[in-house]
Amino acid sequence: EHHGSMPADMPGHGMMARQGLMPVEKMPAGQALQALPVLKNSSQKKGLFQAKITAAAHQRVLADGKTTELWLYNGQAPGPLIELYEGDQVEIEFENQLDQATTIHWHGLPVPSDQDGNPQDAVLPGQSRYYRFTLPQGCAGTYWYHPHPHGKSGEQVAHGLGGTIIVRSPKDPLKDYAEQHWAISDLRLDINGHIPANTGPDWMNGREGQFVLLNAQRQPRIQTSTAERIRVWNSCSARYLRLHIPGAQLIQVGTDGGLLEQPLAAAESILLAPAERVEFFIQAEKDLESSLQALYYDRQKMMVKEKPETLTLAGLTIRHQEIDLPEQLRTIPAIPAAASTAKVVFSEVMPMSHDMPSGHGSGMAASPGMNHQGMGGMDQETMMPGMAAMRSMFRINNQVYDMNRIDLRCPTGQWQYWDVINDSHMDHPFHLHGTQFQVLARQTGNRSVPEPFRAWRDTVNLRPNETVRLAFRQELPGLRMFHCHILEHEDLGMMAQLMVE
Ligand code: C2O
Ligand code: CU
Ligand code: CU
Repeated sequence: EHHGSMPADMPGHGMMARQGLMPVEKMPAGQALQALPVLKNSSQKKGLFQAKITAAAHQRVLADGKTTELWLYNGQAPGPLIELYEGDQVEIEFENQLDQATTIHWHGLPVPSDQDGNPQDAVLPGQSRYYRFTLPQGCAGTYWYHPHPHGKSGEQVAHGLGGTIIVRSPKDPLKDYAEQHWAISDLRLDINGHIPANTGPDWMNGREGQFVLLNAQRQPRIQTSTAERIRVWNSCSARYLRLHIPGAQLIQVGTDGGLLEQPLAAAESILLAPAERVEFFIQAEKDLESSLQALYYDRQKMMVKEKPETLTLAGLTIRHQEIDLPEQLRTIPAIPAAASTAKVVFSEVMPMSHDMPSGHGSGMAASPGMNHQGMGGMDQETMMPGMAAMRSMFRINNQVYDMNRIDLRCPTGQWQYWDVINDSHMDHPFHLHGTQFQVLARQTGNRSVPEPFRAWRDTVNLRPNETVRLAFRQELPGLRMFHCHILEHEDLGMMAQLMVE
């Protein structure tokens, strides 16, 4: 299941023992689901949310009686759920007790640029700061927060930093439904219970842990019903989740940026790329014992051939209840069509093609569309590009991230139309800070397909050779990141900066 001497970095594969990973069964499973811990509002004043978040290392026993050092927000895994209302004024004091610089990024929320945890605004070890912002009307939805320091977002998320946010609206047509909150993350532990550093394949394909956890639990037991509104977060670094419930269907009602206009037709599965969120109801004809699964999704990893594998994320007991979802959930404005204002191209620049072992399919060394520049450096041991070469592999508009460079500019408050192009051989989830966008159309080859429904998103997956036309407006001036949300790619430099003027 592997090429050359490259380890197949997958649970259940033969190389696992050699890599010394903790066997998955060593973590207890099957316990009742615990609700997400909630961040308490210490303010009494209506419309004001005040709290403190501390990032620090904590020792936990997670598997096989071994002690794991996690980095957590307020000692909780996942970090506490922040429940806000549209219009809220938010003041969060943040203290960094880690021994490296970090930031908190409010993924998907339209907060001012200097409050958004950009890599430029690092909070050094031992330092504190306030994050202050006011939520506009109309931003009800499902968001999250995570570290965004320069080059180390992946490492910090891999150690446990990340938390969920829900913004509510009193006008929400689904507000009377009970909710389930499922924050999905993955975790890698070695045989000693430690969180190991990235391997070469992690840097290439993104890191996936052998433990896929729901609210930080392995395969919890969940009691739910067809009358519950379920919000799911994919807070994994690189793992794609094709959610499926055998015997039931999923009725999607929301995306990253809140509700859809209408519930979608019931579907067998919903694909959640890293950083995406979804809201759905389960449709089942009768009471059902089932499970929440992640079906295999081929995201065209490089130099890895993997066995299609279905993961069980949770056991479900689903009670059947008749419900009558409203036909109209909200209206989402149609954005007037216009010419493209910018092109954003994701590419992989392969080092030294003649040294590359053959990858998937016909072998990527000979793949058309790749740039073969002598970036120098195959690691002779692993036949992987060395670290120096990988640092310049993942690019946006043929450049590696530089925090001192402005890559694109746009005016405040005007519609922008971006063609985001995946000129590479693997999937990349595109993410833009500071706003939500609409996908207008997708194109592979010459066929442009209009998006079948309107939705607000901040993250959209791009298949290899796919172009996505999206539209957004930035309401606040300042610096905004856009990047691939496979955190290892982001950290390697598949990120760029938009100056909103
Ligand atoms: Cu969720 Cu720039 O990230
Ligand atoms: Cu973000
Ligand atoms: Cu990527």
